[in-house]
Amino acid sequence: MIKLKEKFVLKTQRTLDLWVYFFAPAQLIRHSDLTLSILTRDEYWMPATEKTLPTNGKSPPVTTRGLEGVIALETEICDIDGQKGELIYGGYDIHDLAANTTFEEVAFLLWNGRLPNRNEADELRDALASERILPPMVMDILRMTPEDANAMAALRTSVSVLSLFDGEADIMTPEANYRKAIRLTARIPVIIAAFERLRKGLDVVEPLKHGSTAHNFLYMLSGEEPGEAAEHTFDVCLILHAEHGLNASTFTGRVIGATLTDMYSSITGAIGALKGPLHGGANIKVMEMLQDIDRTGADPEQYVLDMLANKERIMGIGHRVYKTIDPRATILREMVDTLSAERGERKWYDMSVKIMETVEREKGLYPNVDFFSASVYGTLGISTDLFTPIFALSRITGWTAHLLEQWKENRLIRPRAAYTGPRGLKTGR
Ligand SMILES: CC(C)(COP(=O)(O)OP(=O)(O)OC[C@H]1O[C@@H](n2cnc3c(N)ncnc32)[C@H](O)[C@@H]1OP(=O)(O)O)[C@@H](O)C(=O)NCCC(=O)NCCS
Repeated sequence: MIKLKEKFVLKTQRTLDLWVYFFAPAQLIRHSDLTLSILTRDEYWMPATEKTLPTNGKSPPVTTRGLEGVIALETEICDIDGQKGELIYGGYDIHDLAANTTFEEVAFLLWNGRLPNRNEADELRDALASERILPPMVMDILRMTPEDANAMAALRTSVSVLSLFDGEADIMTPEANYRKAIRLTARIPVIIAAFERLRKGLDVVEPLKHGSTAHNFLYMLSGEEPGEAAEHTFDVCLILHAEHGLNASTFTGRVIGATLTDMYSSITGAIGALKGPLHGGANIKVMEMLQDIDRTGADPEQYVLDMLANKERIMGIGHRVYKTIDPRATILREMVDTLSAERGERKWYDMSVKIMETVEREKGLYPNVDFFSASVYGTLGISTDLFTPIFALSRITGWTAHLLEQWKENRLIRPRAAYTGPRGLKTGR
């Protein structure tokens, strides 16, 4: 059940505060359900939060800053229960998927709404393998990219350039869009690995004709085939980052896609949104914080207390939807614990746990996916500024799934803003 205090505007312009009770789980209640029309005697009531009622020519007030709690659309791809800390992709709990599937199977699930059978999984793996090639122009741009360029900017630019060499870029049939989703999923890892090798002055490593996305990416990055443990750990990270509802980058992608522009435009925009430190960029900031604590020899607890006293945000902590621990953080925490024990390098894990406990005690806030993923990638020896591109490498599956869904029943996404500026000014010219 959810309980809402609603301000009702009567036709007579009188306002009334009423409690409204919905006897259903919050996730089953659509925004349209909140459009109550109750006819009582000669008065017509409408909830003020719906903002569809013209109010004497004035702009209606803003519903909620940052669209918090607003249900913008319906989806079958993913659901998050922020109170219970549950995450499902297409009906499957994230713990089940992380333990029992591969990233490629999850990609298929997101795109098709069901897990693949063995043939379908093999077909997708082959399709990804055959698409792991970059147009020469993209490689040339990566060669010309300054070595200190922002890795997300390099990825964003390269993805945009990919569209110039895809003959199907503007073909909007479901089949062509599905092929583009596969192409992008295959090529983003190649871009990131090539960017990393080139800026280090190393030769680009050609992808293998076989193997998973995780295997190929780690191979292209280092030039050495990864061990089973590293591949599995990375594969689970990809599963955990693949999809997360209407987060900022996915919403960006859907808004762009809803204009019926091409998939590359949407994904270029989504990468731009993911780059921000309040979104995917947080995993880099987490590692930088851990490195700073390590370098200065600071006590992690005191370090965080000082940050909080200065009203600074602790990256990787807090979430707009989860009001308890993010289930992905729980899985990642266990992985860092195991990985650190295996490699005899527990410092990132120990620091992270201290920080987590301090923020929970002081602010009642919990880690999100970025908090422990930073330590996983750090322990795997991956360069810190690649953490967010790796997020994109996985989230490309969720972004493209949302675009495929959006285009099934497209409607332009176009909200309104409440104008608060002046009116009636005259230029006097
Ligand atoms: C993710 C995030 C933007 C969501 O924030 P939000 O829903 O807008 O929450 P608010 O900004 O309204 O914050 C609510 C309260 O929690 C505090 N808070 C939220 N995240 C915090 C953090 N990471 N560190 C310290 N305090 C935090 C705010 O200061 C605020 O406290 P106050 O009420 O005393 O002022 C926010 O938690 C954050 O900035 N986290 C760090 C960045 C990050 O990890 N992003 C990745 C998300 S997956």
